[in-house]
Amino acid sequence: MCEVPVFYATTDGQTRLIAEYLARAFCSHGLESVALDVANVEAWSVDRAGVRAVVLGASVHAGKHQTTAAKFAGAHRQWLNKLPSAFYSVSLGIASSNQTEVQAARALAKTFVEQTGWHPTRIVCFAGRLAYTRYGWLKRMLMRRIARKEGGPTDTHRDHELTNFADVAALASDMAALARPVVARAAGGFRGNAMSTDGLQRSRRQV
Ligand SMILES: Cc1cc2nc3c(=O)[nH]c(=O)nc-3n(C[C@H](O)[C@H](O)[C@H](O)COP(=O)(O)O)c2cc1C
Repeated sequence: MCEVPVFYATTDGQTRLIAEYLARAFCSHGLESVALDVANVEAWSVDRAGVRAVVLGASVHAGKHQTTAAKFAGAHRQWLNKLPSAFYSVSLGIASSNQTEVQAARALAKTFVEQTGWHPTRIVCFAGRLAYTRYGWLKRMLMRRIARKEGGPTDTHRDHELTNFADVAALASDMAALARPVVARAAGGFRGNAMSTDGLQRSRRQV
């Protein structure tokens, strides 16, 4: 049984790293959790019975999130809309010194969920990673050019971790608090979810 599955789509691995961090954080909050790649069949066949809250993450590449993540959210939207849920978007734009880029990163996250019909309780944007050592030459040069334009790190001899894991931990605490009342009610025989997840509730880190 998994109480808070953390689904993710990734291209270079950072969104998986964040998903695994979130899953460990949920476990430390006393909730069973596991990170599941939406590209794998296990993510699509999760036993829904014990699930109390759901998190889905995806990263931005060339101006859009992974199609697999959109398909997953769209296919599961009725289920997701009945539970406390969060979408986290991973990008470099959100870490830009240019406010227009920051707003664009937030808008991408919002558009992603709007297009799927999912209404997550939380929408959060995390800065990702400049994985220069993992890119091929062309991708490395392209990313350095973008980083320079956005005021980011340009030393291509190493990777640059831009994710603030304190913010990731804060999302886990926030979602654990939302999941826990449902756990308590379920233990007492209540099967429904009285929590309203209509609309976008706002928090410090939200879009
Ligand atoms: C080829 C490429 C294109 C990217 N395009 C964008 C982009 O359009 N906007 C953005 O904010 N970040 C962009 N990024 C940055 C990624 O979102 C960032 O590296 C993130 O950590 C990737 O997450 P992942 O490792 O889970 O795929 C791009 C990265 C690469 C390598």
